[in-house]
Amino acid sequence: MTADGARHFLDLSDFPASTLRAMLDAGRDIKARRRTAQDAEDKPLAGKVVAMVFEQPSLRTRMSFDVGIRELGGEPVMVTGKEIELGEREAIGDTARVLSRFVDAIMIRMLNHDQLVELASYATVPVINGLTKRSHPCQVMADLLTFEERKGPIKGRRIAWTGDFNNVLASWIHAAARFDFELAIATPEELAPRADLIDWAKAEGARLDLGHVAEAAVEGADCVISDSWVSMGDADGERRHNLLRPFQVNERLMKRAASDAIFMHCLPAHRGEEVTDEVIDGPQSAVFDEAENRLHAQKGVLAWCFGAV
Ligand code: CP
Ligand code: NVA
Repeated sequence: MTADGARHFLDLSDFPASTLRAMLDAGRDIKARRRTAQDAEDKPLAGKVVAMVFEQPSLRTRMSFDVGIRELGGEPVMVTGKEIELGEREAIGDTARVLSRFVDAIMIRMLNHDQLVELASYATVPVINGLTKRSHPCQVMADLLTFEERKGPIKGRRIAWTGDFNNVLASWIHAAARFDFELAIATPEELAPRADLIDWAKAEGARLDLGHVAEAAVEGADCVISDSWVSMGDADGERRHNLLRPFQVNERLMKRAASDAIFMHCLPAHRGEEVTDEVIDGPQSAVFDEAENRLHAQKGVLAWCFGAV
């Protein structure tokens, strides 16, 4: 929240668990009444226009925000970072101040997290992080919703991440500091989480089990998560593939998890790399519920940004 009251959604770490829980509950409730008579009357974004700014490609974030804004009664307007030469044609602060005169909220995907924070500091309307190189909080809100739909409360459960440290994992670490579950992380040593983030999470009470062996992280887990080995903005693809090959989620690895464990992946997936077809198309996979839940979880976030939660 800024001094002038705009409710930004930049990182899960900015919020107490109670606020995140209120957004998740709102998303779950809005999902339950989707396309009912009650839903037709409940339009917290009525008369509002939301800018969607994309510096990088997107399917899920683009579609889920566009559809979600419309279903909540608002109007999306999309521009690409290229069209407005984001961060090049004018100062980020000027872009933020101009957009704030036209629209009621800004959802933005840009790699440079510091620039996102700068943009939010100048915006007088809510700013939502639609992915930066540092974090992907909307994704993890959808993941939390998906886990709890399938498995019940996440408190006390074991969630396993196998792969590199990236934006999605950073938001999972933020979530672990808020929701009292165990987060087991296996990364190559060279691609391990930032020490300052781990120090922060531990100081906040997160229960982290850090290591470099996928089998150990997955042991007894209620959920196994993987992500692309080469995120947007990563240059060293070949090196990453070599380092990450032992972290693939396949049937052999899934057998280490609890027998009723689910598999999650934010998508897009690289089949045969971080996950095999057998797992992503198998009975334990929750990946398409997870993609759909971007829509519902983000409605909870949007409702909070507009003061309806
Ligand atoms: N998971 C996710 O954010 O997908 P997109 O990059 O397609 O938006
Ligand atoms: N870690 C991935 C997530 C894509 C939704 C990336 O940043 O490219």
